[in-house]
Amino acid sequence: MEREVGFDYDRGDIHRTYASGRALSPAQFAVWEELVSEALGGDSVRRVVDLGCGLGRFSAWLSGLTDAAVAGVDRSERMLAQAMADPAERTIHWIRASAEKLPIRDASCDFVWMFLVYHHLVDRPACLAECARILGRGRTLVIVNSTAETLDSYLWLPFFPSARAIDLARLPRRASVIELARDAGLGLVCHRTVMTPVAPDLPTYAERIASRTISTLQMVSDEEWAHGIAGFRRYCQREDRGQPVLDEIDAFTFRRVT
Ligand SMILES: C[S@@+](CC[C@H](N)C(=O)[O-])C[C@H]1O[C@@H](n2cnc3c(N)ncnc32)[C@H](O)[C@@H]1O
Repeated sequence: MEREVGFDYDRGDIHRTYASGRALSPAQFAVWEELVSEALGGDSVRRVVDLGCGLGRFSAWLSGLTDAAVAGVDRSERMLAQAMADPAERTIHWIRASAEKLPIRDASCDFVWMFLVYHHLVDRPACLAECARILGRGRTLVIVNSTAETLDSYLWLPFFPSARAIDLARLPRRASVIELARDAGLGLVCHRTVMTPVAPDLPTYAERIASRTISTLQMVSDEEWAHGIAGFRRYCQREDRGQPVLDEIDAFTFRRVT
């Protein structure tokens, strides 16, 4: 199943703005640490693949968490170049490759982590087959992604009239992630809808969105963007009660069955 590529991280300047616009707080890392610990369930892990690693937001963190050798794989030249320039990421083995065709040996990995990549995939079954191929038997794949089911929870969405259609065309439904993974030989262990604390209050959240580092918002016209972000900033100022903002996202844990 070939799908049209919706967004190219090698166009524009998202590789420069992503790190500041999408920085992860300790509270967010704590959420993901709990999820990874639960997914690995005490397994010893020697090789990890951060698949679609982008700037490596998670790569060094995964290395510290699992004490394993981590490979960061991404198809974007610019995102990887930026990742390699970060001195904190020197221990990572960076690979420029497509998730649908991985230059990694069969059954050589213990854990594949795929965060906000699934909706970008050109060929989902091919990527899942590659994950199954590189994982050892009984080893773990975690996919964290927005889905068609979480879409309407995003506060910014109604401010950008074309954003919903853009995302509905590319976000998977939960059931399809599970079904395609099963077809690839990856059995579902757990699905959770996770609430992540993305900002301490609404005005801070508005500034995060204003970084325009969500690919959907790169795909709306500049005119729609300017109008939408002005309205969203006003909304966030008006509605702020000093409460943290939580984003909803789906997390799926699979194990290679055969
Ligand atoms: C939203 S970013 C997420 C990056 C990283 N996982 C994170 O959470 O910071 C999506 C990344 O997936 C990469 N990507 C998209 N499709 C890919 C594919 N088919 N193969 C490899 N990388 C891909 C993009 O180049 C981009 O760096």
